[in-house]
Amino acid sequence: MKIVIPGGTGQIGPILNRALTAAGHDVVVLTRRPASEHEIGWDGETPGPWTEAIDGSDVVINLAGRSVSCRYTPANLQDMMDSRVRSTEAVGAAIAGAAKPPAVWLQMSTATIYAHRYDAPNDEATGIIGGNEPGVPGYWAYSVKIAKDWERAQQRAETPSTRKVALRSAMVMSPDRGGVFDYLLWLSRLGLGGPVAGGGQYVSWIHDQDFVRAVEFLIARDDIVGPVNLAAPAPVPQRTLMRELRAAWGVPVGLPATKWMAELGALALRSDTELLLKSRRVVPGRLLEEGFTFHHPRWQVAAEDLVHRVRTSR
Ligand SMILES: NC(=O)c1ccc[n+]([C@@H]2O[C@H](COP(=O)([O-])OP(=O)(O)OC[C@H]3O[C@@H](n4cnc5c(N)ncnc54)[C@H](OP(=O)(O)O)[C@@H]3O)[C@@H](O)[C@H]2O)c1
Repeated sequence: MKIVIPGGTGQIGPILNRALTAAGHDVVVLTRRPASEHEIGWDGETPGPWTEAIDGSDVVINLAGRSVSCRYTPANLQDMMDSRVRSTEAVGAAIAGAAKPPAVWLQMSTATIYAHRYDAPNDEATGIIGGNEPGVPGYWAYSVKIAKDWERAQQRAETPSTRKVALRSAMVMSPDRGGVFDYLLWLSRLGLGGPVAGGGQYVSWIHDQDFVRAVEFLIARDDIVGPVNLAAPAPVPQRTLMRELRAAWGVPVGLPATKWMAELGALALRSDTELLLKSRRVVPGRLLEEGFTFHHPRWQVAAEDLVHRVRTSR
């Protein structure tokens, strides 16, 4: 198949690109800075010659969007919103205008669309969409708004010949440098991988190989449309996530951090505590119902596999 991946140069793009290329597909990446023959330039907003790559393709997987690992200042939140909504609209317009539109458009979304909660897991059917949770910083609602507007931009696109799926993905854990797992491992190795603010908040995650398998499953299953959660079936409290990661690497201690210590750390790393403190309890209702099986359903075993791959690849 010919597969086009707008925004395929970040953390997730190369994971998909490697796997799909190895499976024999022809993968083309849309980027603002093309650097190879498999990359085509676009600005994430306006039509251009890049739309020719989409016309005649089989699959589009749109990952474009400003990184969320930043301070959630008003300007950055606006950039996070605009880069997602505009690039989704641009992709939708390219598909709508194609003489031979792709069979399927997988649009990245996020598990962050669900409410901050501890009491029960969020699946697609019964989950609570966030934005109205009491007792959390007001700006957290904005990340939910970004996710909702992002999905709406895909829903609104008039692409009657193309199946549309929104990927409500949890954190994708891979051994690659610069990814989420690399960062958590770095903190652990420094002895800082302890509970943050008590560590009761849930972390939803998905092993990189299951993420790729889920994407392949959603491409193949031409009866699945709409939002799909991409998360392992067992989200874990943050303190458990870090304890099992420390055990997998062999780090004896992880200093606990209070909320204000997390604030300072996030400030120093130019990141935001929402990423650490929001309880993301998200489960793959639809994938399981449709018969998808996870190779790495449990964090402990997934962490051991990721640690092993880090140790053997560096
Ligand atoms: N990583 C995760 O665990 C995770 C989980 C859930 C959802 N997501 C979402 O999935 C998507 C991909 O994740 P990722 O971790 O690979 O993200 P990433 O590393 O931040 O990469 C996203 C890509 O988007 C492009 N981009 C950035 N700003 C843009 C703009 N203004 N206009 C057009 N393109 C722009 C960049 O490509 P160029 O600079 O080459 O143009 C960048 O490589 C993101 O939208 C992210 O929010 C990620």
